[in-house]
This record gives sequence, C-alpha cells and structure tokens, in this order.
Amino acid sequence: MKVLIIYFSQSGNTRKIAHSIGDGAREAASRVDVKSIKKVSYEMLENYDLIGLGSPVWKADPPNIRRFYNNAPDQKGKHIFSFCTHGTMPGFYFPVVLPNLKKAGFTVIGNRRWYGNVVMPGMPEPYYTAGHPDAQDLAEAKAFGREMVERSQRIHNGETDLIPPMPENDVNKNQAVAIVNMLLEYGNPQGKIVRDPEKCIYPKCTRCMDNCTMDYIDLSCEPQKFGSEGCCCNDNHECAWCFMICPTGAIRLEPSIEEHIKPLIGVRKTLFESILDEAERNGEFRRLIPIEEVGFNTPYCLAHPDKPHFKVPAKPEE
Ligand SMILES: Cc1cc2nc3c(=O)[nH]c(=O)nc-3n(C[C@H](O)[C@H](O)[C@H](O)COP(=O)(O)O)c2cc1C
Ligand code: SF4
Ligand code: SF4
Repeated sequence: MKVLIIYFSQSGNTRKIAHSIGDGAREAASRVDVKSIKKVSYEMLENYDLIGLGSPVWKADPPNIRRFYNNAPDQKGKHIFSFCTHGTMPGFYFPVVLPNLKKAGFTVIGNRRWYGNVVMPGMPEPYYTAGHPDAQDLAEAKAFGREMVERSQRIHNGETDLIPPMPENDVNKNQAVAIVNMLLEYGNPQGKIVRDPEKCIYPKCTRCMDNCTMDYIDLSCEPQKFGSEGCCCNDNHECAWCFMICPTGAIRLEPSIEEHIKPLIGVRKTLFESILDEAERNGEFRRLIPIEEVGFNTPYCLAHPDKPHFKVPAKPEE
C-alpha cells in the first residue's frame, strides 16, 4: 500500500504530527511520503492508495485546505483520513472538512485531532496549550498512522463496516458562541495587514512571498501585489503570518496590536479558560503549563518585539 500524507503547517505543529503519522504508517505500508500541500498536485494522488490530509484549525479550516478539496477532481472512493492541530477551539473542523472530502469523492476512513501551541500576534505568550504537541502526542500520532493503514487494508479486503460514520458536530455551547462571533467579524480579526515599501528590502528578502499561505504576494511584478486586496491583506481567516516573519518590520497591523487586543483580553480570557477547563475535565486536554504562567497580558508579538517576531524554521518543507 502506498500512502501520501499531505499537510499545511504555519508554525510547525501539524508538520510534526504529520511526520509522526508517517512514521507509524511506514510500519504497515510499502511506501509513505509526507509532503507540504504546496508541493502536491492532483495528478500525484493517482499514485497512492491512501491519503492523509492535515492542517491547523483556523476557525473551521484554513483557506488553502478548503481550496484543495473544493477543486479536487472526483476521487472515485480513494481512501483518506483527516487530522488537525488546534488551540482552544477545534470547533467546526471535522464537521466542515469531512463532508467536503466526501463530496470530492473520497472515502473518509478516520480522523483525529491534537492540541498545539498557538503563535498569533495577539494571543497570550505563553499560550494555554504551550508544549503541545509533546512526546505523548507524537506517539499517539504514530499509532494513528499505523492504524489508518491497517484499517484501509481491511476495508479494501471487504470489512466496509470499518468506515466510520460522519462525526456529530461536537461544538459545545461556549465554542459555538465564540465561533459565531468570530465569523461575524468582518475581515481579519488580527487587524488589516499593511506593507510599507520604504522598509521592505525585496529582492534581498523574499520571505513573505515564499511563505504566504494563500500565494497572495508577488513583489516581482509591477505594480507589486501584496495581500488579499492587492495592496494589503484582509483575509478573514486571521492569518498574519507575513507580519510575524518579516525581518525588517515593513509589515504592520492596523490597528496596532496594543489598540486591537486591549478590549478583547477579558472576554477571551473567560472564554478560553472555560472551554479548556471543560476539555480538561472530559480528559481531552492535558495541561502542560500551569494556568498562572499563561501570558494573558503579554500578546505574542509584544513578548517577542524584535523582528522577525517569529523565525521561520530553517528546515525546508518537503
Ligand atoms: C490564523 C489562525 C487561526 C486560528 N484559529 C484557530 C481556531 O479557530 N481554533 C483553534 O483551536 N485554534 C486556532 N488557531 C491555532 C492553531 O490551530 C494551532 O496553533 C495549530 O496547532 C497551529 O498549527 P501549525 O503549527 O501547524 O500551523 C489558529 C491559528 C492561526 C495562525
Ligand atoms: S518579508 Fe518584509 S522585507 Fe521581506 S520581502 Fe516581505 S515585506 Fe519585504
Ligand atoms: S496575512 Fe500575509 S501571509 Fe497571510 S494570507 Fe495575507 S498576505 Fe498571505
């Protein structure tokens, strides 16, 4: 059996999980490849018997994952499993993603989620989920990878009752309220992302172009293109990655993080804590840092004021 594990990962959590799933899958499959979604074409899928597709949770799903399944040609029943990493609110991820994979013609044979640390300009540093994914998460991911290959083989051998039903919507009341509020916000709740060409050192640096989640940036053309609006980015999935990784401070948020985050601190604190308390009580969440250490008054980019706020890992994507 040949397995392709496709992932999108901005800050590295999903990438780690994808590789551990790959390690587990290798114990039972003849060939396993793990690739970034940027390097995958639909033609490639034809060479594999089982696909794994994973990403972080962004509200429901990140826009590049949505683009992937919305544009996919009919997969004629090809087996797929879905996985994600998330912060406080996994929310609508599986209820949104799995039916769409089915619509693209995949047979969905399993799904699994893991907590991951959160790196966003206005979110607490350290965050409640800091330390995830840890060794235990990676061991679970490895076991999941092997389980998916074995399940796929058994389904191919006729045990079709192993195909799980579509999941129930597991969004509890707190999460539902938070998500509806987020969806009602127009544009990017982190603020509008604006680039100052005076501070930009392109072509010496191409970091934002190389790492833009949505390929919205092209500084090589005239006029230069930047963000969802061509001149700035207001994508409503909360992405602010180019701001986080720009080495010169040429990219800024409007309004600034100080103005933007202050009114939200109390609301988010109450909400996040109640959601995670409940997840901990249900045995879904393992707290790796004590609650007193969560940096609610130190948003990530103020805790890391030097530019870039976040260093893109040196390891290239597969
Ligand atoms: C733009 C953005 C939106 C996010 N939205 C959510 C969300 O709605 N719910 C949630 O639980 N976590 C959310 N997160 C947190 C990520 O899902 C979490 O940090 C994930 O592990 C990141 O994976 P990565 O390191 O592979 O990029 C968001 C993170 C980003 C950057
Ligand atoms: S990351 Fe910053 S300096 Fe680099 S090309 Fe983009 S805007 Fe310019
Ligand atoms: S915020 Fe920046 S990296 Fe994210 S989609 Fe917009 S332009 Fe791309």
